[in-house]
Amino acid sequence: MNEAVKEGMNDTILVTGGAGFIGSNFVLQWLASESAPLVNLDALTYAGNAANLAEVSDHSRYHFVHGDINDRRLVSSLLQDRKPFAIIHFAAESHVDRSIRGPEEFIRTNIQGTFALLEEAKAYWQSLPDDQKPHFRFLHVSTDEVYGSLAEHDPAFCETTPYAPNSPYAASKAASDHLVRAYHHTYGLPTLTTNCSNNYGPFQFPEKLIPLMIHNALRGESLPVYGDGQNVRDWLFVGDHCAAIRCVLRSGCPGDTYNIGGRSERRNLDLVHTLCAVLDELRPESPHKPHANLITFVTDRPGHDRRYAIDSSKVERELGWHPEVSFEAGLRRTVAWYLDHSEWVASVTSGSYRDWIATHYASSGGAR
Ligand code: NAD
Ligand code: TYD
Repeated sequence: MNEAVKEGMNDTILVTGGAGFIGSNFVLQWLASESAPLVNLDALTYAGNAANLAEVSDHSRYHFVHGDINDRRLVSSLLQDRKPFAIIHFAAESHVDRSIRGPEEFIRTNIQGTFALLEEAKAYWQSLPDDQKPHFRFLHVSTDEVYGSLAEHDPAFCETTPYAPNSPYAASKAASDHLVRAYHHTYGLPTLTTNCSNNYGPFQFPEKLIPLMIHNALRGESLPVYGDGQNVRDWLFVGDHCAAIRCVLRSGCPGDTYNIGGRSERRNLDLVHTLCAVLDELRPESPHKPHANLITFVTDRPGHDRRYAIDSSKVERELGWHPEVSFEAGLRRTVAWYLDHSEWVASVTSGSYRDWIATHYASSGGAR
């Protein structure tokens, strides 16, 4: 990163949403692999957890700031004080089901928050000496869900696939992607956008498919599969996503977008069966074996996208990134992590989590 550092800017990066699932994996990977300092701005919503980063809380290159990306005065002073050479923007409301029940927070954080961050990034970037401006980066972390849904034999999403978001979450991320694009095109802000497929791995909040299924199975509760279970997602181990973001930051072309995926398409029902088999093996003494007996079909998600698949050939060809963790190895690693971190799961599944599960699955057909 050091060639990007000129007088005025530091070699610091500012991460937003670094206490969430992907953000905390990114912070840990960054501090372990890079030499530059990292400032983490996070509002600590229900999805953010400072404990994810307990092991680096005293790290000399890590600094946590509790705050909202919509707080423009805070963002402005952080940029002026810390003088980062890059912003890596993870902060978002990220759960499709929550966006269906309550889209407003998605508009506030994903659209208005990204707008606020872009405005402050632009002001900071414009204040830099001319020779430094090209070295600044605004890297926006987005999703494949902006492209909508694929039929069974459609080719995978590539960077030129037209946007067709179907959920309030996807629409809010699509809007934020468009804003980022416009700030590059109109003002010249050196932006990068990554659109990634479904992530899984340590620290994922147990409202998403894989950790929810692990959590329920261990407690002998039903495993609620939406609809016919034939929806397809393209899974990527979170550490591979974080490595891709570092690669795009290092070598990506300003103004470009990069699709990131694992070439690991799985039908939901097949995935849950595989997960149950891994749990049967790693928890042979479980009274709930075989865990697959807990699978229950529940009412489908409204507007449920049938299939996502990412064509990541651009980032592979142009930047040399490749996923390193196979789905089978990553899934085993993930199950093992959840088995070893029961106190983490207990801490994030108390309180409001229970209200969410009770409300959501009661109206999804009483899976519990
Ligand atoms: P997450 O929900 O686990 O974490 C989001 C983080 O953002 C939390 O720490 C939360 O406290 C913080 N946050 C929310 N609102 C904020 C605000 N207004 N100001 C500051 N911080 C705020 O999400 P995630 O799964 O880690 O996803 C991170 C990013 O990656 C998101 O932008 C998401 O759209 C994108 N993404 C996620 C996936 C996936 O499979 N999880 C796939 C592709 C892209
Ligand atoms: P999810 O983890 O919510 O991610 P996304 O909606 O962003 O893809 O869901 C992944 C898939 O699993 C999706 O097709 C919906 C399905 N799913 C279930 O079948 N049951 C559940 O309880 C959950 C949370 C998801």
